[in-house]
Amino acid sequence: MALLKIRTFKDAILRKKCKQVTAVDDKVRVLLNDMVETMHNTQNGAGLAACQVGILRRLVVIDLGDGVIKLVNPKIIYSEGEQFEFEGCLSFPGIWGRVHRPEKVIVSALNENGDEITIQGAGFMAKCLCHEIDHLDGIVFVDVASELIKN
Ligand code: CO
Repeated sequence: MALLKIRTFKDAILRKKCKQVTAVDDKVRVLLNDMVETMHNTQNGAGLAACQVGILRRLVVIDLGDGVIKLVNPKIIYSEGEQFEFEGCLSFPGIWGRVHRPEKVIVSALNENGDEITIQGAGFMAKCLCHEIDHLDGIVFVDVASELIKN
């Protein structure tokens, strides 16, 4: 396992689109584990997308405190409702903003073994899934947020 450097602020890679992963192999599994370790090494990191560590592949890890979720090629296949809550990002430390997100989502993805999975998220998990999947399309929350605050 290895800690990876988290790209921040104006780093151009944060606004690039990530490519589909074509094979879930050992290289991908090592990267996912390194992303988890990197996320856990931060203060309040709840999620991390591969572009945030400089790799333009569609990989996301999430841990809201009840277990690590590793997603390959995640895609929102259903959403419902709306929330408008504050969020932050490991790539924009000290900045918070409110973003319109669905209240519930269903995401399809591959897991680290290459099996198709679907996961449901509501509330904070839905917000996190949307935030991380946005990263894969080069969308960062500071560009879509209202009421940005610094602290
Ligand atoms: Co983020």
